[in-house]
Amino acid sequence: MAEPLLRVENARVVYDVPGGAIRAVDGVSFTLEAGRTLALVGESGCGKTTMAKAILGLEPLADGEIRVAGKRVSGDLKGLAKRVGIVWQDPYASLDSRWRVGRSVAEPLLVNSYSRADTEARVREVMEQVGLDPSLGSRFPHQLSGGQRQRVAVARALALNPPLVLCDEPTAALDLSIRAQILNLLKDLQESLGLAYLYISHDLTTVRFIADRIAVMYLGKIVEMGDKEEVFSRPRHPYTRALLRSTPSLENLGRVPDILPGEIPDPRVRITGCNFRTRCQFAQAKCAEVEPGPTHEGGRVFFCHFPLEEGSGTEARTASEA
Ligand SMILES: Nc1ncnc2c1ncn2[C@@H]1O[C@H](COP(=O)(O)OP(=O)(O)O)[C@@H](O)[C@H]1O
Ligand SMILES: [Mg+2]
Repeated sequence: MAEPLLRVENARVVYDVPGGAIRAVDGVSFTLEAGRTLALVGESGCGKTTMAKAILGLEPLADGEIRVAGKRVSGDLKGLAKRVGIVWQDPYASLDSRWRVGRSVAEPLLVNSYSRADTEARVREVMEQVGLDPSLGSRFPHQLSGGQRQRVAVARALALNPPLVLCDEPTAALDLSIRAQILNLLKDLQESLGLAYLYISHDLTTVRFIADRIAVMYLGKIVEMGDKEEVFSRPRHPYTRALLRSTPSLENLGRVPDILPGEIPDPRVRITGCNFRTRCQFAQAKCAEVEPGPTHEGGRVFFCHFPLEEGSGTEARTASEA
């Protein structure tokens, strides 16, 4: 089989913190094919941003391996930038507030030894690709609208023409009216440039729009992953269903969304067995004793000893819950 564009294999990132260690990414494996979109979803603190940083080589792996276009992510961040771009939630994290935005877009090119002339031409080209007049390159970030700033951040991510772009909550900081514009821009760019996206979000409405596949994370682990429509309509992991039900949608409009019982546990405390069991309404003794391994069903995988029945999706409720 051909090597996928992105391969994450048993990746582990551990932060040493006062009072212990946080396994922010705890044995995560997935692949992403060229031209496709995988959404990484889950509550705040589940490890999404850490996963993105690991793919960018910004957080070292304690275990496992990440490959982009067949090459192992290592210390060579300059070379890696030609293969992976990143759009952060806050454009100010991508753009230096003291620089004219054209310089921010140019920087990855200059670092990679593009000539002045080639850099200028490429900056103009990529500004146009994201729907901006190249003359805006002489502005500072604060002189642009929120939507324009995020377009500049996209232009910077695309400057070196990478086949893979990581998007970490790229529309979360934007007004609702601008959100759709940026999402449509990302979709159009994907189509015209053949980009693959790892699209990180806790907002399932945008994920539903943009993703092909979806991976659900909880406390550093993927609990379920599969085709977007299958996962949305027939979640097999109780956490996936709870997450779907807590999201306002046309289907559950006017219904009080389910609130997951309890808080997300202290990430420094290791939980034996299944780490979702402390909040799971279906947990039994086995869940505290044995960590669930993967169950494969077609193109889907989930990690649960007592998965939901097929057909118990967001629309259906079991008698005990009614
Ligand atoms: N630099 C860091 N040092 C220590 N802990 C961190 C650091 N970055 C993130 N964490 C912790 O790692 C976990 C995952 O965080 P993060 O990847 O930011 O989650 P998400 O992006 O899903 O909200 C959280 O418990 C968070 O507090
Ligand atoms: Mg984050």
